Amino acid sequence: MRSHGVHIATALAALLTTTSANLVHITSYAGSLTTLNLTLGSGSEISTLTSLQSITATADCGTNPGWLSLVGDILYCLDEAFGKPNGTLASFRVAPNGELTLLNKVPTIAGPVSAVVYGQGGRGLAIADYQGSGINTFNIADPTRLTPIQSEVFRLTRPGANPQRQEAPHPHQAILDPTGNFLVVPDLGADLIRIFALNQTTLAYRSVQAPLASAAGSGPRHAAFVVGTSKTFFYVLNELDNTLVGYDVTYNSNSTLGFRQLFRTSTHGDSSTRPNGTTAAEILVSPENPPFLILSSRFERALSVPSYNSTGSIPSDPLITFSVDTTTGLVAHRQTRAAGGVNPRHFSLNKAGTLVGVGLQSDGRAVVIQRDPGSGLLGDIIANVDIEGEVNCFVWDEEER
Ligand SMILES: *[C@@H]1O[C@H](CO)[C@@H](O)[C@H](O)[C@H]1NC(C)=O
Ligand SMILES: *[C@@H]1O[C@H](CO)[C@@H](O)[C@H](O)[C@H]1NC(C)=O
Ligand SMILES: *[C@@H]1O[C@H](CO)[C@@H](O)[C@H](O)[C@H]1NC(C)=O
Ligand SMILES: *[C@@H]1O[C@H](CO)[C@@H](O)[C@H](O)[C@H]1NC(C)=O
Ligand SMILES: *[C@@H]1O[C@H](CO)[C@@H](O)[C@H](O)[C@H]1NC(C)=O
Ligand SMILES: *[C@@H]1O[C@H](CO)[C@@H](O)[C@H](O)[C@H]1NC(C)=O
Repeated sequence: MRSHGVHIATALAALLTTTSANLVHITSYAGSLTTLNLTLGSGSEISTLTSLQSITATADCGTNPGWLSLVGDILYCLDEAFGKPNGTLASFRVAPNGELTLLNKVPTIAGPVSAVVYGQGGRGLAIADYQGSGINTFNIADPTRLTPIQSEVFRLTRPGANPQRQEAPHPHQAILDPTGNFLVVPDLGADLIRIFALNQTTLAYRSVQAPLASAAGSGPRHAAFVVGTSKTFFYVLNELDNTLVGYDVTYNSNSTLGFRQLFRTSTHGDSSTRPNGTTAAEILVSPENPPFLILSSRFERALSVPSYNSTGSIPSDPLITFSVDTTTGLVAHRQTRAAGGVNPRHFSLNKAGTLVGVGLQSDGRAVVIQRDPGSGLLGDIIANVDIEGEVNCFVWDEEER
């Protein structure tokens, strides 16, 4: 009897995944983690038939959720918990119908903002903690029992060139190099890219080399690697001086990484300057080969999009696409396109690279933009949803379950 029930559940799950629906998970600093169902139209009617419908929202992540990482049917949520001595890491199970069940919740250093899964079997989670100036690692082999491995707080002997933003180290992201053997942490407060050697078996990290220094006052926020034809390349997006810096990467025989700067350009790929108050936010590499680099720039308000709820238009910041020469690592500006509103703190691509989900922090809105993976060009905004508060993270969920 029991095996019969399991069989029916499996068949139902298979049926659900054959529809063209996608789940997406979105966080807001107002305290919500919202799961929605994106239903795509087809052919020329795609824009009119597309909808983004809320399935469920939970307050269980905490008071100020800001980052999500999805692994299979487990969703990890970071709560920055403004003003509190610790942030939190929460794990949820995502049911086939999109319902979330809280499994476990543990403290981190204050203000966790980014996480990455690492190690053999994806048993480790590394977290960058902005407010508390540190990093945490957890064993997540059992998502109902998240177990701390290591943590570390960094110090500055004196404030950086931008004393308002660089009064202390501010690790802003945790990413892996393409081999998974190195944890790489851009530190906005210290103008450093911190690099740690990972033991993929024990899940331990250790510092084996001096950090890669960024220009004084540049404020490295997020970064991305590209595996080129014969070399690996590394691209750093600097929030405070709105620059994009490219490096080639050497894997040294003493198990360290070497970096050689290839170029430094503005977030728009030219020598133009941005309005005062502009801050670069997200950068990612598209799934195609050769890939495109896409970045977001905040508070420019130089573009506009039609208003979502009335006539007229509203201001928009850009998403900017660059092509990548996978032999030299150099990039070329391809497109500057409206992100759909102001303050695109985070965006992500679906697996096929045909859709971009954007969290517009200042507008309390998430949008979905069409993308052509061949040309790398972004197209129309095909769905939008208002979510209370500052929308800050948009994660696609195309897992089969
Ligand atoms: C998503 O919407 C589609 C179309 O309305 C529906 O068939 C599907 O069951 C929905 N999925 C979930 C998980 O609610
Ligand atoms: C919680 O915050 C305290 C005070 O900042 C810190 O010492 C401790 O390491 C944090 N806990 C974790 C699990 O990171
Ligand atoms: C990882 O740690 C194990 C156990 O200490 C050790 O045997 C192994 O050599 C380490 N691997 C690396 C790549 O350092
Ligand atoms: C590792 O090798 C590189 C390249 O030869 C060298 O520049 C660096 O100083 C070495 N690091 C250590 C810690 O030995
Ligand atoms: C830019 O804005 C900041 C904060 O509003 C202000 O202190 C600064 O003077 C402005 N700089 C310029 C060049 O307008
Ligand atoms: C329309 O959206 C804007 C933000 O884009 C918001 O400020 C305004 O209150 C909305 N108006 C209505 C009628 O919902």
